[in-house]
Amino acid sequence: MKVTVFGSGYVGLVTGACLADVGHSVVCIDVDQEKIDGLNKGVIPIYEPGLEELILKNVAAGRLSFTTDASVGVAHGDLQFIAVGTPPDEDGKADLKYVLAVAATIGRYMTDYKVIIDKSTVPVGTADKVKAVIAAELEARAVKTGFDVCSNPEFLKEGAAIEDFTRGARIVVGTDSETVIGLMRKCYAPFNRNHDKLMFMDVRSAELTKYAANAMLATKISFMNEMANLAELLDADIEQVRLGIGSDPRIGYDFIYPGCGYGGSCFPKDVQALARTALEVGHTPDLLLAVESVNNRQKHELFRKLSFAFDGDLAGKTIAVWGLAFKPNTDDMRDAPSRVLLESLWDAGATVQAYDPEAMRECKRIYGSRPDLELCASREAALVDADALVICTEWKAFRTLDFPKLKENLRYPVVVDGRNMFEPTDMAAAGLMYYSIGRGI
Ligand code: UGA
Repeated sequence: MKVTVFGSGYVGLVTGACLADVGHSVVCIDVDQEKIDGLNKGVIPIYEPGLEELILKNVAAGRLSFTTDASVGVAHGDLQFIAVGTPPDEDGKADLKYVLAVAATIGRYMTDYKVIIDKSTVPVGTADKVKAVIAAELEARAVKTGFDVCSNPEFLKEGAAIEDFTRGARIVVGTDSETVIGLMRKCYAPFNRNHDKLMFMDVRSAELTKYAANAMLATKISFMNEMANLAELLDADIEQVRLGIGSDPRIGYDFIYPGCGYGGSCFPKDVQALARTALEVGHTPDLLLAVESVNNRQKHELFRKLSFAFDGDLAGKTIAVWGLAFKPNTDDMRDAPSRVLLESLWDAGATVQAYDPEAMRECKRIYGSRPDLELCASREAALVDADALVICTEWKAFRTLDFPKLKENLRYPVVVDGRNMFEPTDMAAAGLMYYSIGRGI
């Protein structure tokens, strides 16, 4: 099939590359000339395991190409995916200006029937707006052609996006058109094996499904973080509690890891946007607001614990920070708990020696060169002359740790772990003061 994908960001690139890999002919469009030039030279703008190989392979096979020329894109695809960003506006609402700009572009160049597919995470009712924008453009040009707009939200996790796209649990499509059902079945047939993963529903339900899924997952995390904070005060161990409740299949073991708060480009933004939508239709989203406020508080836990360990005096201290990305296997620092920690440390007059396996360049981009931030070449380098260690991200490379050596390296034997990576008894045996989440010290 002929497919066009608008937006060569995270979702657009994964969608384009995965669809090309099963044999579709894909053109990816972006307004950013530099990005497109880079992609045409094989420079992939984001870090995602497996993506670079997939893009290079499919470009070489002639199934995938990149251009800024939207007219080429509109002419090419029978299916036109919209996968541009929906950043929050100042009220926390998803800003649709990029989505609607793409819709206008499609309307401007379209001459025959197309299916326009909203892949970006967009508020309920967006498909209607996209439809209206395209219809207005067609009318202005007096072009008479039919088209359909459907919703096909993505459920990709950063770091596992290709696996999620090709072997996801479900493919949700919101449409009331039989033609769209047929075309989307054909498009996704190569991924629809073993059992039927395609779920067709009305457009608004599909749009809400995406927000409901992320809000549910965020709720699980905030719930566990609340339990963790309670466990600390009650002298219980949240890791035992996690196992105890996870064994109930109605609860399950997945996604109930307490930590230093959820981050990334999705949960914070989507919970906020859904809460805004609720308020707009006259519903006070008590639960969503609580999920968000528990998370915001949780992001301060690492600093609070460190500050407690140093009796509130962190001025002049040097703190080693391991992990800057919001989770492992990505270089993404959007809304990462590490940022709240770094900024609190600097406010308190401390210096940071940071290391992350992938996010060093991103950290430099965000914070630039500053005297109170040293970006270190390895986890060991971050420990040199450090007063204490804080772990923000559970990278695999941090899992092996020589506890006695760590104690020797640190000026004070203080380790704060936002991901519960180690056993408190092992730390204690090595003479380290180990502050983790929901387990006391
Ligand atoms: C999330 C969803 O998991 C995807 O299904 C969805 O498609 C995506 O958002 C999106 O809307 O595009 P992602 O943001 O990549 O994916 O990351 P997750 O792996 O879900 O992690 C989110 C945050 O939750 C991380 O900060 C992670 O550390 C935290 N988390 C996760 C916990 O604190 N505890 C857990 O048990 C699980």
